[in-house]
Amino acid sequence: MSLIPDLDAVRARFASLPELAYFSSGSYGLIADSVRGAFEHYMADRIAMGADWGGWVGRLESVRGQVARLFGVDSDEIAITASASAGMNAIASAFDFTGLRNKVVLSNFEFPTSGQIWHAQERAGARIVHVAEAGDGTIPMDGFADAIDADTAIVAISHVCYRHGGKIPDADIREIARIAHAHGAIVVLDCYQSAGSERIDPRALGVDVCVGGMLKYLLGTAGVAYLYVRRELIGRLTPRQSGWFAQADPDAMDIFANIPSSTARRFEAGTPPVPNLYAAGAGLELILDLGVDAIGDHVRTITRHALDRFAAEDIPVFTPTDDARRGPLIALPSHDEAALVNALAADKVITSSRDGKVRAGFHFYNNEADVERLVASLRRNHNLLG
Ligand SMILES: Cc1ncc(COP(=O)(O)O)c(C=O)c1O
Repeated sequence: MSLIPDLDAVRARFASLPELAYFSSGSYGLIADSVRGAFEHYMADRIAMGADWGGWVGRLESVRGQVARLFGVDSDEIAITASASAGMNAIASAFDFTGLRNKVVLSNFEFPTSGQIWHAQERAGARIVHVAEAGDGTIPMDGFADAIDADTAIVAISHVCYRHGGKIPDADIREIARIAHAHGAIVVLDCYQSAGSERIDPRALGVDVCVGGMLKYLLGTAGVAYLYVRRELIGRLTPRQSGWFAQADPDAMDIFANIPSSTARRFEAGTPPVPNLYAAGAGLELILDLGVDAIGDHVRTITRHALDRFAAEDIPVFTPTDDARRGPLIALPSHDEAALVNALAADKVITSSRDGKVRAGFHFYNNEADVERLVASLRRNHNLLG
């Protein structure tokens, strides 16, 4: 059934498979042979060379190029940061909220870090307005249309909600961007819970900024992340957060001026996360080799198959079943989600929990046999569902 050519051979590259039926890619992707090899390569380079600044900067540029290919944008539009939070903070630091345009419209799909970073701007004069969920894993468009106005500077939305896997459909994102732009605001899309599991085209979506990290569906590691900023916007945003790697010339070693790069590098700061770049490069290489379209097809097909199996077995599901409104994550309501995650783990079925739900995140390495193990374990623990 898989749209990934030779799925068995691909699965063989993950040492945790088939021992684990792994559904925690929304927390941390599984480690591939090449990602493990990349960490070992870093250690070997350190031992052999001590320091290799030229090589490390080369890796930074290579990862930047890979992220650009992932999103179908130019390398100059990509910053490589230490976390998604660092990227969001860099964007926030470029805004002045003391004037009339001081409103930040925030979806309630946001990961806590996004809510916290935008609320932190209240000290600088920002007013934060939340757009509520409908309670069924969707966010009605009316909330955005009502909240976005001439005072709005930023609209911050999450593509796929980390709590329940509900997704803002592409058509809604385009409409949010249209309304925001008509009022002179920018749209920041947090795609941490979707990038790597499907194609994301910021230009087609009309968003100005995309932010996320490498440790989930991109198969990399913690401590390295990306920020896309639309070319036309880069020169208009000068972050107050800076550092030597954000300069037009990082080698200038100038303590008398801050001269930010003309590219998205201006949103970076200090020494790049070198070991993490080795791992992130290997993870991105695997994703790009398999292709985001093939991965997206596989993830849509396997999540649809899981939903059909859950329905057949009377397993309750929270996440919207409409393909356009769900990402790679399916959330199952539980009255004791911690106990259910532990019970599943005892069967080597790995999930995670949030907010009264068990979360099963699907990736290209999941197959139908994994789904059957999940269903069998859920049936054994049916008393914890619902
Ligand atoms: C949707 C989303 N945004 C942001 C973050 C936080 O990213 P970071 O820890 O890199 O700042 C996460 C982490 O799980 C996330 O799922």
